[in-house]
Amino acid sequence: ADIAHGAQVFSANCVACHMGGGNVVNGERTLKAEALDAYLADYSAGHEAAIAYQVTNGKNAMPAFGGKLSDTDIADVASYVEDMSAKGWS
Ligand code: HEM
Repeated sequence: ADIAHGAQVFSANCVACHMGGGNVVNGERTLKAEALDAYLADYSAGHEAAIAYQVTNGKNAMPAFGGKLSDTDIADVASYVEDMSAKGWS
């Protein structure tokens, strides 16, 4: 996946709610490593697949992007989120 392109997708679609890997809507559901590990523990498909699933389908107050972003965009933004969480979003 193209992480640099994922960064662009994130800036255009995610940053309003997830600036710096946070979550302005639900402060417990961040994109930081501890929160992602807890969230992803329910998925056997792997981190990026699980992130891509959530982006495609949405969940609760998070909108679905399946009709707006391509599968490539979603795979790239999932890689970016995984990469940034591993780096502590800095
Ligand atoms: C949760 C990614 C856009 C609001 C999450 C989670 C991921 C994610 C991976 C699960 C993290 C966790 O539970 O700790 C993304 C990406 C986006 C995006 C990659 C852009 C493509 C947005 C936008 C909003 C939003 C625009 C606000 C309008 C939320 C909320 C949750 C969440 C409220 C918690 C959902 C729940 O479990 O109740 N996001 N998000 N997200 N996101 Fe996003």
